[in-house]
Amino acid sequence: MTTITPSNRIRVDLERNPYDVVIAAGHLALIGDELLRSGVTPGRRILVISNADVAGPYGDICLNSLRQAGFTAELEVIEAGESQKTPATVALIHDAAYRQKLERSSLMVALGGGVVGDMTGFAAATWLRGIAVVQIPTTLLAMVDASIGGKTGVNHPRGKNLIGAFHQPRLVLIDPTTLSTLPEREFRAGMAEVIKYGVLGDTALFDELERCEDPSCAAGVGEERLASILKRSAAAKAKVVAADEKEGGLRAILNYGHTFGHVVETLCGYGTWLHGEAVAIGMVAVGELAVQRGSWSRAEADRQQRLIAKCGLPTAWPDLDPSTVLQSLQGDKKVQNGRLRFVLPTTIGRVEIRDDVNREQILNCLKALRA
Ligand code: NAD
Ligand code: GLY
Repeated sequence: MTTITPSNRIRVDLERNPYDVVIAAGHLALIGDELLRSGVTPGRRILVISNADVAGPYGDICLNSLRQAGFTAELEVIEAGESQKTPATVALIHDAAYRQKLERSSLMVALGGGVVGDMTGFAAATWLRGIAVVQIPTTLLAMVDASIGGKTGVNHPRGKNLIGAFHQPRLVLIDPTTLSTLPEREFRAGMAEVIKYGVLGDTALFDELERCEDPSCAAGVGEERLASILKRSAAAKAKVVAADEKEGGLRAILNYGHTFGHVVETLCGYGTWLHGEAVAIGMVAVGELAVQRGSWSRAEADRQQRLIAKCGLPTAWPDLDPSTVLQSLQGDKKVQNGRLRFVLPTTIGRVEIRDDVNREQILNCLKALRA
């Protein structure tokens, strides 16, 4: 069992309702004590939301810990997968909240990947006009990104995450041992968001991943490097979120690779490409756009593409009709006054937010990607 040193506890230092991200191996079994110690919930009633993949190995560990600490805890199992990230599934969580008589002082716990986390967060944001939520991410992607920062929501058939709310968790508990059951493809998908942090600000992290012989699986990454990746990524996200909670400006950099990535997810059909895979394709695409606009060097774009490929992630732009792509881009959340906003790299470790990308540049970029 890892003891929690200050470096395993990262503060998301928001002005209102700051919270901790705790990273500790084996700590899922201590979630009950952690809740008592940190006082994140005044109530005794807890609804844990998970899916069969996660509830199988980890549901009882979580429930037993909560019950031993004196909470009344029940588990609600929802269907797995991006295609289930819909208002209908959130309604099922609300039904469970009603059955379990959740009150304003009650707590929802998201035990799972980003899909469970985003939907549980949204259900908590909307039940009784907002109750507390704790995130226990069990995928690499959710550990480094989705569980931190309070973006919650579901997909609309025409666009990713178009329905949602900002609702910060009271606590994020990362237990890296839960990654032992995560399929390798899902681990790789998480690496896309880690590469993202490298490109948008952490050159040392990017270099470290380049030096790693096999960053495409947990065994290749190794325990020590994984611990460092989790800490650096969580710290990077916490810093950006604390500076700009509701994405008034800076936080948009976290969407690096996501503008094109969301198009890939939406147009190819939710679940065809995993979110992280679509982000990988999106980072290659926006890298090409930056090269074409003359703001990024071909050498660095190639370096990014090599690392993405080394992590076993896809890099090829799918065969999509360019005019449909343009239409889908217009539906993105980041469109402001009809202008598309892109996060473009200028060097590895630095990005800029631009709203002067025109139609021709996008079409030329798509052509180059298909060539
Ligand atoms: P996911 O939640 O679909 O999980 C991936 C798969 O792994 C699922 O089948 C799940 O059941 C399974 N799984 C999860 N943990 C497991 C474990 N420990 N062992 C075995 N199987 C396990 O996918 P994801 O990549 O975690 O999350 C993607 C979602 O997160 C997308 O919907 C994306 O939009 C969202 N997201 C949100 C934010 C945010 O800030 N809120 C950020 C990034 C991504
Ligand atoms: N994943 C983007 C954000 O949290 O802002």
